Amino acid sequence: MCGIVGAIGNLDYKTYLTSGLKKLDYRGYDSAGLAFWNKGKISLYRAVGSVENLASIVPDGHAGTAGIAHTRWATHGGVTVENAHPQRSWDKKVYLVHNGVIDNYKELKEWLSGMGCQFRSDTDTEVIASVIAYFLQEGETPLDAIRKAMEKLDGSYALAILFTGQEGLYFAKNKSPLVLGRGDTRINCLASDYAPILDYCSNFAALDDGTYGYMTENSIVAYRNGKNLALRFASKDKEDYVYDLAGYPHFMMKEIHEGAHVVRKNVETYFDREKKVYLFDPQLLASLKAADEVVFLGCGSSHYSSEAAAAYFNRHGLRATSYIASEWIHGVYPHLKNPYYVLISQSGETADLISCLDMMEKGTKTLGIVNAKDSTIARRSGHVLYIGAGLEVAVASTKSFLGQMALMMLLCGAVNGDTSVPDSLLEAAKAVDDVVGRRADIDAIAEGIVEVHDAFFVGRGMDFFAGEESSLKLKEISYVHSESYPGGELKHGPIALIEEGTPVFAFVGNPEISKQIRSNVEELKARGAVAYIVSSESCAKEGDAFVYRYVEGDFAPYPEVAFGQLLSYYLSLRRGLNVDKPRNLAKSVTVN
Ligand code: AGP
Repeated sequence: MCGIVGAIGNLDYKTYLTSGLKKLDYRGYDSAGLAFWNKGKISLYRAVGSVENLASIVPDGHAGTAGIAHTRWATHGGVTVENAHPQRSWDKKVYLVHNGVIDNYKELKEWLSGMGCQFRSDTDTEVIASVIAYFLQEGETPLDAIRKAMEKLDGSYALAILFTGQEGLYFAKNKSPLVLGRGDTRINCLASDYAPILDYCSNFAALDDGTYGYMTENSIVAYRNGKNLALRFASKDKEDYVYDLAGYPHFMMKEIHEGAHVVRKNVETYFDREKKVYLFDPQLLASLKAADEVVFLGCGSSHYSSEAAAAYFNRHGLRATSYIASEWIHGVYPHLKNPYYVLISQSGETADLISCLDMMEKGTKTLGIVNAKDSTIARRSGHVLYIGAGLEVAVASTKSFLGQMALMMLLCGAVNGDTSVPDSLLEAAKAVDDVVGRRADIDAIAEGIVEVHDAFFVGRGMDFFAGEESSLKLKEISYVHSESYPGGELKHGPIALIEEGTPVFAFVGNPEISKQIRSNVEELKARGAVAYIVSSESCAKEGDAFVYRYVEGDFAPYPEVAFGQLLSYYLSLRRGLNVDKPRNLAKSVTVN
């Protein structure tokens, strides 16, 4: 978590840094801070809360020829100004911003404290600044001080560093993402992702682990293991990073509206409708087919989309399983002879998934299904497929979830030679658009449950996965405690939680199993639950709370998840919460 941005050259730094931070605040928004370098002196500004709070204390037109900034998701130390970044060394020679976690910061702090070094914050970041300052005092150059500090640090870091009295913007990277940008007009930039620097630079390079170096307004120099490194710079397509509300009140609402489009886009990208052929690499398909199991790994929503995909693969005769990435690393799962690992991630930077890659032996077959182009998981997977959802800003995943499911189902169709999948997906996209068009009805349902403390989602078969995803959405943005269960499972325990008035959302998308789920709903109603049945036209009954346009049973999760997204959105809004930036969360979870 945490976002960093920096630059050197002729810029209006207040505008560049604060607007850059806004584009990165999906990575955390507990506090924000920045530092300007001007004629050897560094000025520091930090504020708790939003980037706007920071902007209000920074004077306009501040002179500077380099700057660094940070938006924080607190890991070490509470949300205070002292713990906000930039952090500086005890002697105020080193100022830096950090994304990552230093595992051995306590030992390093003790070591430095033993030499009389004093600390002002509870952060691991201040320790990094002081380790670098220590080596400077030992007579090292800034670059060597950074290299020597890197040898001492265990953990993850993307660092942007300024030195008092020394020109240049320095950087270092291990495990946390860092990209550099080369401008045309005596400006060079860096950031946690491309969005903040796209308008200022024309060529970009993502750094590999162990890289460090510095930039001036005219040059960028990088090293690894003490050796000079030739970075590969390339241009970027700005379309992939459009940061614009486009008239919507929140990014989440905009992104819900884009869901159906992302499903269609995946069909267009991976299927030639005229020739009726899939456009995936035939070698990839052959390897997936030959695998003894396709193993999906993901976290949060990306895990739920892959659970739905694994079930879909199984239903179509392909062996597949889905695991939560942070659990898979503990190795409690069967050792397979010839697995194919599919890593699902919107951001492509999720630390728990990167840990899975770290654990895999060389030569393991991996496919990344990713949204963020050139992200770590995209770069490190043996093969990559993009869902092409464009920038997703709201912390709650919406359009990317639908895109992930669509791409995985297309992949299943391609492996099996089933060319009916794209048409079914296009029908599903229509059903999603239809749900979005009737959002006022969903808002009316949300209005009726504004005061609730608990909610349940139930479903059977593919509908169950829509319940899981909807339940996560409800928790994360409306702060309503929510559980999701397969319809048949409640009476094995959780039904004890049902009280008079507990809202239960039942997804009924498949006529083959609608009888069973409806009888589960009756069991719940008999214990006082207020049931809201969300059903497909193919199995609707009078009294259902919301009936969506017909789709085949396997594709019911598309409109059902759209319903869950909108319900959570409206509930969050009606409860007066921050829809796009819910408490305690960050969009890109870059710590384990
Ligand atoms: C979804 O709404 C969440 N914000 C979260 O569960 C997310 O899906 C998870 O952190 C995984 O992120 P990724 O897809 O970027 O890897």
